[in-house]
This record gives sequence, structure tokens and C-alpha cells, in this order.
Amino acid sequence: MISDYRSYLTSTRHHQTKGQIRSRYVHQDILSLDGFNKASQEICSWDSYQHTPLQLLSDIANDSGVSLIAYKDESWRFSLKSFKALGGAYAVANLLIAKLNEMGIKANSSDLIEGTYSELTATITVCCATDGNHGRSVAWGAQKFGCNCEIYIHRHVSEGREQAIAKFGAKVNRIEGNYDDSVHIAAKVAEERGYYVVSDTSYEGYTQIPKDVMQGYTVMVSEAIEQMQENPTHVFLQGGVGGFPAAVVSYLAESLESAPIFVVVEPNNADCLFQSAVNGKPTIVHGDLDTVMAGLACGEVSVLAWKILQDYVPHYLAIDDSCVPKTMQLLANNRPPIVAGESAIAGLAGLLIASQDDDLRSKLKLTKDSRILVFGTEGDTDEEMYKNMVGRSASEVLAGNN
Ligand SMILES: Cc1ncc(COP(=O)(O)O)c(C=O)c1O
Repeated sequence: MISDYRSYLTSTRHHQTKGQIRSRYVHQDILSLDGFNKASQEICSWDSYQHTPLQLLSDIANDSGVSLIAYKDESWRFSLKSFKALGGAYAVANLLIAKLNEMGIKANSSDLIEGTYSELTATITVCCATDGNHGRSVAWGAQKFGCNCEIYIHRHVSEGREQAIAKFGAKVNRIEGNYDDSVHIAAKVAEERGYYVVSDTSYEGYTQIPKDVMQGYTVMVSEAIEQMQENPTHVFLQGGVGGFPAAVVSYLAESLESAPIFVVVEPNNADCLFQSAVNGKPTIVHGDLDTVMAGLACGEVSVLAWKILQDYVPHYLAIDDSCVPKTMQLLANNRPPIVAGESAIAGLAGLLIASQDDDLRSKLKLTKDSRILVFGTEGDTDEEMYKNMVGRSASEVLAGNN
């Protein structure tokens, strides 16, 4: 029952920014429709590229008092079960294309997939930190496009996620500390050994590759808008370092005549975007960042992503882990059933909680006519965790077995 989400209101925080929200998109130097066209041309040429489905959650929309909820189901993205497949792998391809270009060779991703320049690309090593999904994408891209790969994970990353990365031939190193520590270690090792960091987060002096990563994500946003019959009035977006929400915001703010209302949703214990909005500047959240939403367990915002988010996102929500299993189960019991991982459901959970409170409904301008877009950013990327939370495996859920 959606009315049960009322019980999560006490553990939910809301912040509304005081600054002006821009109506016109001005950050083409970071992400742009031109960049999207380039990314789309490459990504759509990869073998097995397909649109992921957009599901309309009619009963859930009815019960939460809005007109429509469109759920973009990224559990079907390539074989990687998450939207991250679009970002890291695209950045790896772009990096190799740029390196070949420096040698006077004009190549595209099809050349890399065919192994036309494999002797040259095999001398290159890409490297990154990850809490799972980004590393899987980089490792998959490295294998697909023909270079070496080294991945750094922190102590909370599950063994299942570690194995899923190693499956693509990457060397996986587990470090002490949290996600942000693994980012710093990967950067240090890369510098010492001449590796190329392919990070999904940007920091001072490191921006080109994270731009490519985010630009890759916009392919999913374009698909979603094509699949919707009417544009959304609201988009609820889960945030880690902010790259995913920034990619969605950039594409919609530049391409739609009237941008929807954006709401960023994070776990209570890893709310760096929320805190940055409160302070009006990038703000680090320290500590363990302990949350079951592993993909969102980030304490430092991506500086480029923040530049976009601060201009276009008026609302931030921080939610508690307790609503995660319930929302995963809600989707597993949907008709048709949807497999949604722990980080996939945060945007939807934020909406469902907000829908149960008159004050939040009015602040977020949620009405019975609202059309909501959410992104189910992952499937069962951690199979064991999924089964623990839902009580059934993904294949049992898809087969409709209770
Ligand atoms: C499944 C999933 N959803 C959302 C996000 C958030 O993306 P970002 O860190 O770019 O904000 C992540 C990040 O790893 C993720 O794995």
C-alpha cells in the first residue's frame, strides 16, 4: 500500500534551494546536445545496443495521487544491468580513440571492437575506483575495446560485485576506507604507473573523462523522452556524486521548451548533494557513508555535476534505508514485474514518500495531473543482496513466482 510510505516521512528530510532556478540551459561547455549526438552515434553502433523499456506504473500512480509514473528500466542495459554501462565504457572508447588520434590514426568504436588497432590499445591501462557499477562498465569497455584495466574497490563493496567486475578480465584491488578513499588511491596509482583514470566523478584539474561518462548517460535520457507520450512535469533522480542527475538535467534543460521540476534523492547517510545545496557550495560528507544503496554511497560531489545541479534543481530529499526493501518488493510485485536494485529505487521512493504529505506535495507542486519520470538505474547488480531484500531471485521475480 502506498499509504504505508507515510511512515517514512519522519526519517525523510527536504531542502528547497533559495537561489533562482535558471530557465535557459547554459552549461554546454560541460554537457550538450552536440555531445549527446556524438555519444549516441558511438553507443548506438555497439553490438547488442537496444533501448531499455519504459514501464508505466499505473496502479502506483493512482495510489499516490499523480497522473502518471514512467519508470525507465535500466536493468536491461546491455548485459550489465545498469545505466552505468553507457558512461564508463563510452569514456574508455573515447580515450582510446583520442590516443590513436595522437598517433595520427582516425578510429571509431567499431574499429576498436574489431581489434583493428589492438596492438596499440593493448599497451594502455585504464583504472578507476568504484562501488560496483561504474567499475563494471569500465572493465567491460576495456575488454570490448581492447585495453587493460585495474579497478579499486572499498571495503563495503560486496564480493558479488567484485566478481562481476573481475569477470571482464580486470584486476580488482580492495582497499581500506570508503568510496572517496578509493577514488584518491586510484588517482595516485595511475599517476605512479602511467595508467589513465576513467572516473565517473570530476575534481579540480580532472574533467574531460567524467564529461564523457556523463555524456554517455544522456543516451538513456533521450530514449526515455522518445518513449513518453507527453513530457514529464517532474523528474525524481537518485544521486551519488551527482553525475547521473546532472546528465539527466542537462539533456532535459537543453532539449525541452519547458524543463520539468527536478528532485534529487539521496540516502540519509550519504547526502553530499543535499548538504551542498544547503551550504550553496560543494560540501564533503565524512564517515562511513553506510547505506544499502551502494551506488549512492558517496561523500564528495562531482564538481562539474554540481555546476549543473545548482542551477536547475530546486528540491533535495534525503531518505532512510528502511524504505528500500519495500520499494524493491513493490516493483517485483508490479504487473509486469520489474527487477530493481537497491540504488535503482531511490527516486521512486522519494516520490512515494513525498506524495503522502500535503506540505511536501505543495512544495514540490505535485498534483493529480503530474507526470513523473523516474530512472530505475540498476537491476540485481548484487544478486545475493537482491534475493535477501526481495525474498526471490530476479529470475523468479521475472517468471512471476511468489
Ligand atoms: C545504480 C546507480 N544509480 C545511481 C547512481 C548515481 O550516479 P552518480 O554517482 O553519477 O550520481 C549510481 C552510481 O554509482 C548507481 O550505481
